[in-house]
Amino acid sequence: MKNKILYGGDYNPEQWLDYPEILERDIELLKEAKINTVTLGMFSWSTLEPKEGVFNFQWLEKVIKTLEENEVNVILGTPSGAKPTWLGNRYEEVRVVRKDGVRELQGNRHNFCTNSKIYREKISIINEKLAQLALKYKNIILWHISNEFGADCHCQLCQEKFRVWLKEKYETIENLNKMWWTTFWSHTYGSFDEINTPMTIGEMSITALDINYRQFMVKNYIDYFNFEKSCIEKVGTNLPFTTNYHGVGNTDMNYREFSKYVDIISYDSYPEWMIKNNLDVAFETSFNFDLMRSTDLKKPFMLMESSPSSTNWQRYSKLKPNNLLEMASLQSVAHSSLSVLYFQIRQSRGSAEKFHGAVIDHSGKSTHRVYNEAKKLGETLDKLDYELKKVKAKVAIYYSWLNKYALERSQGPRNEGMDYYENVLQIYRVLKSMGINIDIVFEDSKLDQYTLVVMPMMYVVEKELADEIKKFVSGGGTIVTTGPIGYVNSDDLCHLGGFPGYLKEVLGIEVDEIDALTNSETGEVCYKGEVYTSKYFNEMITLGKAKSLGTYNKFFYKNQVAISENSYGTGKAYHVGTLLEKKGLYALFGDIFKELSIECAIDNRNLIYSSYLDRHYVFNFGEKSEVFKFKGVEYKLKSLEYIILD
Ligand code: GLA
Ligand code: ZN
Repeated sequence: MKNKILYGGDYNPEQWLDYPEILERDIELLKEAKINTVTLGMFSWSTLEPKEGVFNFQWLEKVIKTLEENEVNVILGTPSGAKPTWLGNRYEEVRVVRKDGVRELQGNRHNFCTNSKIYREKISIINEKLAQLALKYKNIILWHISNEFGADCHCQLCQEKFRVWLKEKYETIENLNKMWWTTFWSHTYGSFDEINTPMTIGEMSITALDINYRQFMVKNYIDYFNFEKSCIEKVGTNLPFTTNYHGVGNTDMNYREFSKYVDIISYDSYPEWMIKNNLDVAFETSFNFDLMRSTDLKKPFMLMESSPSSTNWQRYSKLKPNNLLEMASLQSVAHSSLSVLYFQIRQSRGSAEKFHGAVIDHSGKSTHRVYNEAKKLGETLDKLDYELKKVKAKVAIYYSWLNKYALERSQGPRNEGMDYYENVLQIYRVLKSMGINIDIVFEDSKLDQYTLVVMPMMYVVEKELADEIKKFVSGGGTIVTTGPIGYVNSDDLCHLGGFPGYLKEVLGIEVDEIDALTNSETGEVCYKGEVYTSKYFNEMITLGKAKSLGTYNKFFYKNQVAISENSYGTGKAYHVGTLLEKKGLYALFGDIFKELSIECAIDNRNLIYSSYLDRHYVFNFGEKSEVFKFKGVEYKLKSLEYIILD
């Protein structure tokens, strides 16, 4: 079924109730810009419930009605992202305890305790009322639970829940002690009651404690999300539910897990346009879109927030030059987004976000540049349509939150710059720039639909994951892994009997040692007669059944294996023991693509290509004009120009 793309964003009329003329004018401005959707209710708690038990929903109903008359859809937000002052002040337990042991005072947002009974009771009352209201209006299309989940809490309620959760997982304290290797430094626990969450004033030396706490927090938020959802479902609704995800570079929230519970995957995209190199930023943006939509390939994906111009919280509030807004927005559509939504429709007059970009700025004028850029985009989107289909991708890259937790918390093999996200992104950037669609896969993904799967820095490998990889490769698939690969299990216990643990057979190698390089050192790898630079570390590889494809060209292990290739069943498994820089990656993947007949849709690495619904999008985010060939025809794109081809 084809639908119109949702266009609009977060709208906060509760800030403008004293300005009826502004609210009236907003509707005209929305219509003129072809905006068809707004999100309401996000952060409206103190206007909906100004005093405990005293409610005022009239203003909200009035706005929804007016929007309905003007054919504007509403995404209805629940207000738990920020707690009203009366609530935070009256009930201490709703405020989080930080990892330094201090309980926060009332203020800010995203800082309520998910396990507080009082918070849950209060939100259930307001959610039920919202649900009753929602039954009356046909223009409400989606529930948006809370806002950007993520704060940690170390309060007593959370500590107790954590212990219960651990007990369910490990069953006995002896088992937990074994799995966490607690005899080290004499940290053996006598009972589950002795375990505290990892705090800066307490236990920070057991990596498994920290990993488990991260997983526990994800479960907490999922549980909390489901609780809010159940309050609404009790009243009756047939609308889908979502909650907004944010960039994986900034959060430890495991969205693969979360996507099991939402009906629509929604993502807030705030790339550092104009602050960093735009082309690099664009690849990172594509990576995040691919990652988010891949958290469940069967569910719809939407861009829930983006800025129509600058943000106010990045290092510099850089404006988007003309066309960049359209480019950045269409980029999400090219990655299967069913919407282009902003934070925010109207700029708030005061407080923290008064200088954040908005469709309607403080002047309220429709002649202003950003409004007109948004209006132009409204016209473009009005001509496109949306259909729920799978993105066609033959190549996939692994991403694992568990691996991120473990790798970043482990002391060694390299502490500085062991940035998992950045390193996966580096591989993504190279593959994406070769002109292909890419899916992201996770520990529990099925791989048989792909030709090539790349697994960067997968330090944690459990048996189930290794089994899936073996099945994939023996059945004809190709995998490329990079070091450090398969060192530990999910509790950060090193595999005995040689790395890469369960993957030894399929990769046909053993990794004996790993040498970290300092930031001022570069490694060198000799591959097919050329020398390529690498960084971070070099693994010492002993060949089993695999053959050598490349060797180190420096240090005391010069001429030893750096890249291996193993035939396994009818497929192949490559391993790269170092972090090859771009040139080397292009050489290696260029050959692998050739061997697997993976076609690059375009032939210019300074452009970004994505396809969806048989529309082929090519974007030039760079500063120069670029030429490229698509299906044998040559095209030219100026800087900040894009084209959609059939
Ligand atoms: C987040 C929030 C919004 C707003 C924007 C500003 O994504 O969800 O409420 O604060 O950031 O960029
Ligand atoms: Zn808590």
